[in-house]
Amino acid sequence: MSVTTAPTTATTLGFSTLDREVVVDELELSGELPSWLAGSLLRTGPAKFEVGEQRMRHWFDGLAMLHRFTIEDGHVSYGNRSLESRSYRAAQEQGRMVYGEFATDPCRSLFKRVQTLFSGGGVLPDNANINLTRLGERFIAMTETPLPVQFDPHTLAAADVRPYRVPGQLSTAHPHSDRTTGSMLNYAAKLGRTSSYRFFEVGRSVTSEHPSKPRVIGSLAVKEPAYMHSFGLTERYFVLAEFPFVVNPLALALSGRPYIENYRWKPERGTRFTLVDRETGEATGGFQTDACFAFHHVNAYEEDGEVVLDLCVYPDAGIVEDLYLERLRAGKPVASATLTRFRLSLADRSVRREQLAEQGIELPRINYGRCNERPHRYVWGNSNGAEGWLERILKIDVTDGATLSWAESSCYPGEPVFVARPEAEHEDDGVLLSVVLDVRSETRPPRSFLLVLDAADLSELARAHAPHHIPFGFHGQFARA
Ligand SMILES: [Fe+2]
Repeated sequence: MSVTTAPTTATTLGFSTLDREVVVDELELSGELPSWLAGSLLRTGPAKFEVGEQRMRHWFDGLAMLHRFTIEDGHVSYGNRSLESRSYRAAQEQGRMVYGEFATDPCRSLFKRVQTLFSGGGVLPDNANINLTRLGERFIAMTETPLPVQFDPHTLAAADVRPYRVPGQLSTAHPHSDRTTGSMLNYAAKLGRTSSYRFFEVGRSVTSEHPSKPRVIGSLAVKEPAYMHSFGLTERYFVLAEFPFVVNPLALALSGRPYIENYRWKPERGTRFTLVDRETGEATGGFQTDACFAFHHVNAYEEDGEVVLDLCVYPDAGIVEDLYLERLRAGKPVASATLTRFRLSLADRSVRREQLAEQGIELPRINYGRCNERPHRYVWGNSNGAEGWLERILKIDVTDGATLSWAESSCYPGEPVFVARPEAEHEDDGVLLSVVLDVRSETRPPRSFLLVLDAADLSELARAHAPHHIPFGFHGQFARA
Protein backbone atom coordinates (compact mmCIF):
# COMPACT_ATOMS: atom_id res chain seq x y z
CA MET A 1 0.00 0.00 0.00
CA SER A 2 1.38 3.39 -0.87
CA VAL A 3 0.59 6.32 1.34
CA THR A 4 1.14 10.00 0.90
CA THR A 5 0.80 13.03 3.07
CA ALA A 6 -1.84 15.63 2.35
CA PRO A 7 -0.47 19.18 2.38
CA THR A 8 -1.97 21.25 5.14
CA THR A 9 -2.68 24.30 3.04
CA ALA A 10 -4.76 22.42 0.48
CA THR A 11 -6.59 20.27 2.97
CA THR A 12 -7.25 23.15 5.33
CA LEU A 13 -8.90 25.05 2.52
CA GLY A 14 -10.45 22.07 0.76
CA PHE A 15 -12.25 21.00 3.91
CA SER A 16 -13.32 24.45 5.04
CA THR A 17 -16.92 25.65 4.84
CA LEU A 18 -18.22 27.60 1.88
CA ASP A 19 -21.32 29.58 2.88
CA ARG A 20 -21.33 32.06 0.05
CA GLU A 21 -23.91 31.50 -2.69
CA VAL A 22 -23.45 33.38 -5.97
CA VAL A 23 -24.59 33.55 -9.56
CA VAL A 24 -21.94 34.80 -12.01
CA ASP A 25 -23.01 35.40 -15.60
CA GLU A 26 -19.54 35.10 -17.06
CA LEU A 27 -16.42 33.71 -15.44
CA GLU A 28 -12.97 34.98 -16.31
CA LEU A 29 -11.77 32.53 -18.95
CA SER A 30 -8.36 31.70 -20.34
CA GLY A 31 -7.83 29.46 -23.34
CA GLU A 32 -10.54 28.44 -25.73
CA LEU A 33 -13.47 26.10 -25.27
CA PRO A 34 -14.35 23.64 -28.05
CA SER A 35 -17.22 25.05 -30.11
CA TRP A 36 -19.23 21.84 -29.72
CA LEU A 37 -19.14 21.94 -25.91
CA ALA A 38 -22.50 23.18 -24.60
CA GLY A 39 -24.26 22.26 -21.38
CA SER A 40 -23.78 22.27 -17.64
CA LEU A 41 -21.35 20.51 -15.36
CA LEU A 42 -23.42 19.90 -12.24
CA ARG A 43 -21.64 18.82 -9.09
CA THR A 44 -22.51 18.08 -5.48
CA GLY A 45 -20.23 17.82 -2.50
CA PRO A 46 -19.89 18.57 1.18
CA ALA A 47 -19.47 22.30 1.84
CA LYS A 48 -20.62 23.01 5.38
CA PHE A 49 -18.64 21.31 8.10
CA GLU A 50 -20.13 22.92 11.24
CA VAL A 51 -23.68 23.25 12.50
CA GLY A 52 -24.02 25.40 15.60
CA GLU A 53 -21.54 24.05 18.11
CA GLN A 54 -21.21 20.72 16.37
CA ARG A 55 -18.30 19.93 14.08
CA MET A 56 -18.64 17.32 11.36
CA ARG A 57 -16.16 14.50 11.89
CA HIS A 58 -15.80 12.99 8.43
CA TRP A 59 -15.42 14.27 4.86
CA PHE A 60 -18.62 12.41 3.94
CA ASP A 61 -20.61 14.28 6.64
CA GLY A 62 -20.51 17.84 5.30
CA LEU A 63 -23.82 19.41 4.29
CA ALA A 64 -24.21 19.37 0.53
CA MET A 65 -23.77 22.23 -1.90
CA LEU A 66 -24.59 22.15 -5.60
CA HIS A 67 -22.38 23.84 -8.21
CA ARG A 68 -23.23 24.60 -11.81
CA PHE A 69 -20.75 25.54 -14.55
CA THR A 70 -22.75 26.28 -17.70
CA ILE A 71 -20.88 26.41 -21.01
CA GLU A 72 -22.54 28.25 -23.85
CA ASP A 73 -21.11 29.94 -26.96
CA GLY A 74 -17.58 29.70 -25.63
CA HIS A 75 -18.42 31.35 -22.29
CA VAL A 76 -18.87 29.91 -18.81
CA SER A 77 -21.40 30.98 -16.19
CA TYR A 78 -21.47 29.69 -12.63
CA GLY A 79 -23.85 29.32 -9.72
CA ASN A 80 -23.75 27.55 -6.37
CA ARG A 81 -26.36 26.90 -3.73
CA SER A 82 -26.69 24.83 -0.58
CA LEU A 83 -28.83 21.80 -1.26
CA GLU A 84 -32.07 22.49 0.58
CA SER A 85 -32.51 18.97 1.86
CA ARG A 86 -34.53 18.40 5.00
CA SER A 87 -31.24 17.71 6.79
CA TYR A 88 -30.04 21.17 5.76
CA ARG A 89 -33.31 22.96 6.50
CA ALA A 90 -33.59 21.40 9.96
CA ALA A 91 -29.98 22.37 10.73
CA GLN A 92 -30.63 25.95 9.60
CA GLU A 93 -33.86 26.26 11.54
CA GLN A 94 -32.70 24.69 14.78
CA GLY A 95 -29.03 25.69 14.72
CA ARG A 96 -27.97 22.11 15.41
CA MET A 97 -27.67 18.79 13.64
CA VAL A 98 -31.03 17.05 13.64
CA TYR A 99 -30.26 14.10 11.37
CA GLY A 100 -27.32 11.70 11.69
CA GLU A 101 -24.66 11.60 9.02
CA PHE A 102 -22.03 9.08 7.92
CA ALA A 103 -19.80 9.46 10.98
CA THR A 104 -21.42 12.26 12.98
CA ASP A 105 -24.55 11.71 15.00
CA PRO A 106 -26.81 14.13 16.85
CA CYS A 107 -27.31 11.60 19.69
CA ARG A 108 -30.84 10.52 19.02
CA SER A 109 -32.79 8.47 21.55
CA LEU A 110 -32.73 4.71 21.37
CA PHE A 111 -36.35 4.70 20.28
CA LYS A 112 -35.64 6.98 17.37
CA ARG A 113 -32.65 4.90 16.28
CA VAL A 114 -34.72 1.76 16.02
CA GLN A 115 -37.50 3.66 14.33
CA THR A 116 -35.05 5.13 11.84
CA LEU A 117 -33.58 1.86 10.84
CA PHE A 118 -36.42 -0.60 10.79
CA SER A 119 -39.39 1.50 9.84
CA GLY A 120 -37.61 3.72 7.35
CA GLY A 121 -39.47 6.43 9.24
CA GLY A 122 -39.16 10.16 9.20
CA VAL A 123 -35.74 10.51 10.75
CA LEU A 124 -33.44 9.39 7.94
CA PRO A 125 -31.08 12.05 6.59
CA ASP A 126 -31.21 13.19 2.95
CA ASN A 127 -27.98 15.19 2.76
CA ALA A 128 -27.32 14.31 -0.88
CA ASN A 129 -23.64 15.22 -1.06
CA ILE A 130 -22.22 12.28 -3.05
CA ASN A 131 -23.52 12.24 -6.60
CA LEU A 132 -26.28 13.36 -8.90
CA THR A 133 -28.00 11.96 -11.94
CA ARG A 134 -30.47 12.83 -14.64
CA LEU A 135 -33.53 10.63 -14.91
CA GLY A 136 -35.68 11.65 -17.85
CA GLU A 137 -36.10 15.38 -17.35
CA ARG A 138 -35.42 15.25 -13.63
CA PHE A 139 -32.17 16.06 -11.87
CA ILE A 140 -31.59 14.16 -8.67
CA ALA A 141 -28.92 14.50 -5.98
CA MET A 142 -28.15 11.39 -3.97
CA THR A 143 -26.46 10.03 -0.92
CA GLU A 144 -26.56 6.51 0.54
CA THR A 145 -29.93 6.85 2.29
CA PRO A 146 -33.23 6.12 0.50
CA LEU A 147 -34.16 9.79 0.06
CA PRO A 148 -33.00 11.34 -3.23
CA VAL A 149 -33.41 15.11 -3.60
CA GLN A 150 -34.71 16.55 -6.84
CA PHE A 151 -33.42 19.96 -7.89
CA ASP A 152 -33.66 22.54 -10.63
CA PRO A 153 -30.51 22.38 -12.83
CA HIS A 154 -30.58 26.16 -13.47
CA THR A 155 -31.44 27.68 -10.08
CA LEU A 156 -30.18 24.66 -8.09
CA ALA A 157 -33.24 25.00 -5.85
CA ALA A 158 -34.52 21.78 -4.32
CA ALA A 159 -38.01 20.57 -5.24
CA ASP A 160 -40.61 19.64 -2.68
CA VAL A 161 -41.32 16.28 -4.25
CA ARG A 162 -39.37 13.04 -3.83
CA PRO A 163 -38.77 11.63 -7.31
CA TYR A 164 -38.89 8.06 -6.00
CA ARG A 165 -38.34 6.16 -2.78
CA VAL A 166 -35.68 3.51 -2.50
CA PRO A 167 -36.95 0.07 -1.34
CA GLY A 168 -34.56 -0.23 1.60
CA GLN A 169 -32.68 1.83 4.18
CA LEU A 170 -29.24 1.95 2.53
CA SER A 171 -28.43 2.41 -1.12
CA THR A 172 -25.75 3.78 -3.42
CA ALA A 173 -25.31 7.17 -5.01
CA HIS A 174 -23.85 5.43 -8.06
CA PRO A 175 -26.86 4.14 -9.99
CA HIS A 176 -26.41 2.76 -13.49
CA SER A 177 -28.38 3.54 -16.58
CA ASP A 178 -29.96 0.84 -18.76
CA ARG A 179 -28.49 1.66 -22.16
CA THR A 180 -31.65 0.53 -23.97
CA THR A 181 -34.44 2.07 -21.90
CA GLY A 182 -32.62 4.84 -20.00
CA SER A 183 -34.13 3.63 -16.75
CA MET A 184 -32.07 3.81 -13.58
CA LEU A 185 -30.77 0.69 -11.88
CA ASN A 186 -29.54 0.51 -8.31
CA TYR A 187 -29.42 -1.74 -5.28
CA ALA A 188 -30.55 -1.18 -1.71
CA ALA A 189 -30.09 -2.99 1.57
CA LYS A 190 -33.37 -3.64 3.36
CA LEU A 191 -32.57 -4.04 7.04
CA GLY A 192 -34.68 -5.72 9.66
CA ARG A 193 -35.03 -8.94 11.63
CA THR A 194 -34.12 -10.54 8.31
CA SER A 195 -32.19 -8.40 5.86
CA SER A 196 -31.79 -8.49 2.10
CA TYR A 197 -30.14 -6.79 -0.84
CA ARG A 198 -32.73 -5.58 -3.32
CA PHE A 199 -32.07 -4.75 -6.95
CA PHE A 200 -34.42 -2.24 -8.46
CA GLU A 201 -35.27 -0.17 -11.49
CA VAL A 202 -36.79 3.31 -11.74
CA GLY A 203 -38.32 4.29 -15.07
CA ARG A 204 -37.20 7.52 -16.69
CA SER A 205 -40.72 8.72 -17.45
CA VAL A 206 -41.39 10.14 -14.01
CA THR A 207 -43.31 13.40 -13.77
CA SER A 208 -43.96 15.73 -10.85
CA GLU A 209 -47.50 14.44 -10.61
CA HIS A 210 -46.39 10.83 -10.68
CA PRO A 211 -43.25 10.09 -8.74
CA SER A 212 -41.99 6.77 -9.98
CA LYS A 213 -42.42 3.61 -7.98
CA PRO A 214 -39.30 1.47 -8.15
CA ARG A 215 -39.70 -2.03 -9.53
CA VAL A 216 -37.82 -4.63 -7.47
CA ILE A 217 -36.08 -7.04 -9.87
CA GLY A 218 -34.53 -9.39 -7.36
CA SER A 219 -33.84 -9.89 -3.70
CA LEU A 220 -31.02 -11.66 -1.92
CA ALA A 221 -31.05 -12.58 1.79
CA VAL A 222 -28.04 -11.32 3.77
CA LYS A 223 -27.14 -11.64 7.45
CA GLU A 224 -24.52 -8.95 7.70
CA PRO A 225 -24.73 -6.47 4.82
CA ALA A 226 -21.43 -5.20 3.43
CA TYR A 227 -20.69 -1.52 2.91
CA MET A 228 -20.95 -1.05 -0.84
CA HIS A 229 -20.58 2.40 -2.34
CA SER A 230 -21.24 1.27 -5.91
CA PHE A 231 -21.84 -1.84 -8.02
CA GLY A 232 -21.15 -3.11 -11.53
CA LEU A 233 -23.47 -3.66 -14.48
CA THR A 234 -23.07 -5.91 -17.52
CA GLU A 235 -25.59 -6.60 -20.27
CA ARG A 236 -27.03 -9.48 -18.24
CA TYR A 237 -26.06 -8.88 -14.63
CA PHE A 238 -25.90 -6.62 -11.66
CA VAL A 239 -22.44 -7.29 -10.18
CA LEU A 240 -22.16 -7.05 -6.43
CA ALA A 241 -18.76 -6.98 -4.72
CA GLU A 242 -19.19 -7.70 -1.01
CA PHE A 243 -16.04 -6.58 0.73
CA PRO A 244 -15.58 -7.92 4.26
CA PHE A 245 -16.55 -4.60 5.83
CA VAL A 246 -19.90 -5.61 7.26
CA VAL A 247 -22.54 -4.59 9.76
CA ASN A 248 -24.88 -6.39 12.10
CA PRO A 249 -28.22 -4.60 11.46
CA LEU A 250 -29.34 -4.91 15.06
CA ALA A 251 -26.07 -3.39 16.31
CA LEU A 252 -26.54 -0.59 13.80
CA ALA A 253 -29.94 0.13 15.30
CA LEU A 254 -28.94 -0.11 18.94
CA SER A 255 -25.25 0.71 19.37
CA GLY A 256 -25.51 4.47 19.73
CA ARG A 257 -22.47 4.88 17.49
CA PRO A 258 -22.53 6.90 14.27
CA TYR A 259 -23.51 4.92 11.17
CA ILE A 260 -20.16 3.87 9.69
CA GLU A 261 -18.58 3.08 13.06
CA ASN A 262 -20.84 0.05 13.32
CA TYR A 263 -19.10 -1.67 10.41
CA ARG A 264 -16.44 -4.28 11.18
CA TRP A 265 -13.49 -5.44 9.08
CA LYS A 266 -13.64 -9.26 8.85
CA PRO A 267 -10.91 -10.24 6.37
CA GLU A 268 -11.46 -13.95 6.98
CA ARG A 269 -14.68 -13.64 4.94
CA GLY A 270 -12.71 -12.65 1.84
CA THR A 271 -14.35 -10.65 -0.95
CA ARG A 272 -17.46 -12.24 -2.46
CA PHE A 273 -18.94 -11.48 -5.85
CA THR A 274 -22.54 -12.17 -6.78
CA LEU A 275 -24.17 -11.83 -10.19
CA VAL A 276 -27.88 -11.03 -10.30
CA ASP A 277 -29.70 -11.59 -13.57
CA ARG A 278 -31.25 -8.30 -14.74
CA GLU A 279 -34.25 -10.10 -16.25
CA THR A 280 -35.10 -12.78 -13.70
CA GLY A 281 -33.47 -11.53 -10.51
CA GLU A 282 -31.81 -14.93 -10.13
CA ALA A 283 -28.54 -14.78 -8.20
CA THR A 284 -25.31 -16.62 -9.04
CA GLY A 285 -22.78 -16.62 -6.21
CA GLY A 286 -19.72 -18.61 -5.21
CA PHE A 287 -17.09 -16.20 -6.56
CA GLN A 288 -14.57 -15.48 -3.83
CA THR A 289 -11.15 -13.87 -3.57
CA ASP A 290 -8.89 -12.29 -0.97
CA ALA A 291 -10.14 -9.53 1.31
CA CYS A 292 -9.99 -6.05 -0.17
CA PHE A 293 -12.06 -2.88 -0.19
CA ALA A 294 -13.27 -0.38 -2.78
CA PHE A 295 -15.61 2.54 -3.10
CA HIS A 296 -15.76 2.58 -6.87
CA HIS A 297 -16.52 0.09 -9.57
CA VAL A 298 -15.07 1.46 -12.80
CA ASN A 299 -16.91 -0.69 -15.36
CA ALA A 300 -18.01 -4.28 -15.99
CA TYR A 301 -18.74 -6.43 -19.04
CA GLU A 302 -19.01 -10.02 -20.22
CA GLU A 303 -16.30 -11.58 -22.38
CA ASP A 304 -15.59 -15.20 -23.33
CA GLY A 305 -17.56 -16.80 -20.52
CA GLU A 306 -16.24 -14.39 -17.92
CA VAL A 307 -17.54 -11.33 -16.17
CA VAL A 308 -14.80 -8.72 -16.18
CA LEU A 309 -14.89 -5.90 -13.67
CA ASP A 310 -12.46 -3.13 -12.83
CA LEU A 311 -12.39 -1.56 -9.39
CA CYS A 312 -10.26 1.00 -7.53
CA VAL A 313 -9.02 -1.33 -4.82
CA TYR A 314 -7.59 -0.74 -1.35
CA PRO A 315 -6.03 -3.55 0.68
CA ASP A 316 -8.51 -2.93 3.50
CA ALA A 317 -11.17 -0.50 4.73
CA GLY A 318 -8.58 1.76 6.42
CA ILE A 319 -9.35 4.44 3.82
CA VAL A 320 -12.62 5.13 5.68
CA GLU A 321 -10.52 6.06 8.73
CA ASP A 322 -8.16 8.11 6.58
CA LEU A 323 -10.98 10.42 5.56
CA TYR A 324 -11.86 11.74 9.02
CA LEU A 325 -11.54 15.51 8.83
CA GLU A 326 -9.20 15.83 11.78
CA ARG A 327 -6.73 13.50 10.07
CA LEU A 328 -7.12 15.15 6.68
CA ARG A 329 -6.68 18.66 8.01
CA ALA A 330 -3.59 17.53 9.91
CA GLY A 331 -2.07 16.20 6.68
CA LYS A 332 -2.11 12.56 7.79
CA PRO A 333 -1.45 9.88 5.14
CA VAL A 334 -4.22 8.86 2.77
CA ALA A 335 -4.15 5.41 1.17
CA SER A 336 -4.01 5.10 -2.59
CA ALA A 337 -6.31 2.79 -4.61
CA THR A 338 -5.05 0.50 -7.36
CA LEU A 339 -6.88 -0.07 -10.62
CA THR A 340 -7.55 -3.81 -10.43
CA ARG A 341 -9.29 -6.17 -12.84
CA PHE A 342 -11.27 -9.17 -11.59
CA ARG A 343 -12.27 -11.93 -14.01
CA LEU A 344 -15.12 -14.11 -12.75
CA SER A 345 -15.37 -17.41 -14.60
CA LEU A 346 -18.97 -18.49 -15.16
CA ALA A 347 -17.74 -22.04 -15.86
CA ASP A 348 -15.92 -22.81 -12.61
CA ARG A 349 -16.57 -19.77 -10.36
CA SER A 350 -12.86 -18.99 -10.17
CA VAL A 351 -11.71 -15.40 -9.71
CA ARG A 352 -8.56 -14.04 -11.33
CA ARG A 353 -7.14 -10.74 -10.21
CA GLU A 354 -4.75 -8.43 -12.06
CA GLN A 355 -3.34 -4.97 -11.34
CA LEU A 356 -3.81 -2.77 -14.41
CA ALA A 357 -1.49 0.16 -13.67
CA GLU A 358 1.28 1.18 -11.31
CA GLN A 359 -0.10 4.56 -10.38
CA GLY A 360 -2.99 4.81 -7.94
CA ILE A 361 -6.36 6.16 -9.05
CA GLU A 362 -9.61 7.30 -7.44
CA LEU A 363 -12.82 9.02 -8.54
CA PRO A 364 -12.67 7.02 -11.80
CA ARG A 365 -14.58 7.93 -14.95
CA ILE A 366 -14.97 6.23 -18.32
CA ASN A 367 -16.65 7.11 -21.59
CA TYR A 368 -19.89 5.87 -20.02
CA GLY A 369 -22.19 6.43 -22.99
CA ARG A 370 -20.01 4.26 -25.17
CA CYS A 371 -18.57 1.71 -22.73
CA ASN A 372 -21.17 1.09 -20.01
CA GLU A 373 -21.72 -2.72 -19.98
CA ARG A 374 -19.05 -3.07 -22.70
CA PRO A 375 -15.24 -3.29 -22.81
CA HIS A 376 -13.42 -0.01 -22.21
CA ARG A 377 -9.87 0.98 -22.93
CA TYR A 378 -9.46 4.22 -20.98
CA VAL A 379 -10.02 5.20 -17.37
CA TRP A 380 -9.62 8.76 -16.14
CA GLY A 381 -9.41 9.73 -12.48
CA ASN A 382 -7.38 11.44 -9.79
CA SER A 383 -4.12 10.25 -8.36
CA ASN A 384 -2.10 11.02 -5.27
CA GLY A 385 1.17 12.76 -6.11
CA ALA A 386 4.45 12.91 -4.26
CA GLU A 387 3.27 16.01 -2.41
CA GLY A 388 0.16 14.20 -1.21
CA TRP A 389 -3.62 14.13 -1.49
CA LEU A 390 -5.30 14.00 -4.92
CA GLU A 391 -3.14 16.26 -7.00
CA ARG A 392 -3.16 14.78 -10.48
CA ILE A 393 -5.55 13.95 -13.25
CA LEU A 394 -4.65 10.58 -14.68
CA LYS A 395 -5.51 8.71 -17.83
CA ILE A 396 -4.86 4.97 -17.83
CA ASP A 397 -4.83 2.78 -20.92
CA VAL A 398 -5.93 -0.57 -19.49
CA THR A 399 -4.50 -2.52 -22.43
CA ASP A 400 -0.90 -1.82 -21.40
CA GLY A 401 -1.04 0.19 -18.16
CA ALA A 402 0.34 3.29 -19.88
CA THR A 403 -0.55 6.52 -18.12
CA LEU A 404 -0.70 10.21 -18.88
CA SER A 405 -1.13 12.82 -16.19
CA TRP A 406 -1.91 16.49 -15.66
CA ALA A 407 -0.64 18.33 -12.63
CA GLU A 408 0.19 21.89 -11.64
CA SER A 409 1.96 23.12 -8.56
CA SER A 410 -0.37 23.94 -5.62
CA CYS A 411 -3.42 22.87 -7.61
CA TYR A 412 -5.70 20.02 -6.52
CA PRO A 413 -8.05 18.66 -9.18
CA GLY A 414 -11.31 16.86 -8.47
CA GLU A 415 -13.00 14.08 -10.41
CA PRO A 416 -12.46 14.51 -14.18
CA VAL A 417 -15.83 14.14 -15.91
CA PHE A 418 -15.52 12.86 -19.48
CA VAL A 419 -17.68 14.51 -22.15
CA ALA A 420 -17.60 12.89 -25.59
CA ARG A 421 -17.38 15.02 -28.70
CA PRO A 422 -20.54 14.56 -30.76
CA GLU A 423 -19.87 12.16 -33.67
CA ALA A 424 -16.63 11.04 -32.02
CA GLU A 425 -15.07 7.90 -33.46
CA HIS A 426 -12.51 7.23 -30.75
CA GLU A 427 -13.23 6.34 -27.14
CA ASP A 428 -11.09 9.20 -25.83
CA ASP A 429 -12.29 11.86 -28.26
CA GLY A 430 -13.76 14.49 -25.97
CA VAL A 431 -12.89 16.65 -23.00
CA LEU A 432 -12.42 16.25 -19.27
CA LEU A 433 -14.04 18.74 -16.91
CA SER A 434 -12.47 19.00 -13.47
CA VAL A 435 -12.91 21.52 -10.66
CA VAL A 436 -9.46 22.39 -9.36
CA LEU A 437 -8.66 23.97 -6.01
CA ASP A 438 -5.86 26.48 -6.51
CA VAL A 439 -4.15 27.34 -3.22
CA ARG A 440 -1.60 29.76 -4.65
CA SER A 441 -2.24 33.08 -2.99
CA GLU A 442 0.41 35.47 -4.35
CA THR A 443 -2.04 37.86 -5.89
CA ARG A 444 -5.47 36.95 -4.65
CA PRO A 445 -7.39 34.77 -2.21
CA PRO A 446 -7.20 31.09 -3.13
CA ARG A 447 -10.08 29.93 -5.28
CA SER A 448 -11.11 27.14 -7.62
CA PHE A 449 -11.32 26.94 -11.37
CA LEU A 450 -13.00 24.75 -13.94
CA LEU A 451 -10.29 23.04 -15.97
CA VAL A 452 -11.02 21.77 -19.46
CA LEU A 453 -8.56 19.21 -20.82
CA ASP A 454 -8.36 17.33 -24.09
CA ALA A 455 -9.28 13.81 -22.89
CA ALA A 456 -6.93 12.14 -25.37
CA ASP A 457 -3.61 13.78 -24.42
CA LEU A 458 -4.56 15.75 -21.27
CA SER A 459 -3.43 19.03 -22.82
CA GLU A 460 -5.13 22.09 -21.39
CA LEU A 461 -7.80 23.74 -23.51
CA ALA A 462 -9.22 26.30 -21.12
CA ARG A 463 -9.83 27.28 -17.51
CA ALA A 464 -12.63 29.39 -16.01
CA HIS A 465 -12.08 30.95 -12.61
CA ALA A 466 -14.74 30.62 -9.90
CA PRO A 467 -15.12 33.53 -7.47
CA HIS A 468 -14.30 31.45 -4.39
CA HIS A 469 -12.82 28.20 -3.21
CA ILE A 470 -14.94 25.11 -3.77
CA PRO A 471 -14.43 22.50 -1.04
CA PHE A 472 -13.25 19.08 -2.21
CA GLY A 473 -16.29 17.20 -3.52
CA PHE A 474 -17.06 13.81 -4.90
CA HIS A 475 -19.04 13.50 -8.11
CA GLY A 476 -20.80 15.39 -10.86
CA GLN A 477 -22.35 14.92 -14.27
CA PHE A 478 -22.44 16.89 -17.49
CA ALA A 479 -25.91 17.70 -18.80
CA ARG A 480 -25.80 18.56 -22.49
CA ALA A 481 -27.68 21.64 -23.57
FE1 LIG B 1 -18.45 7.73 -5.06
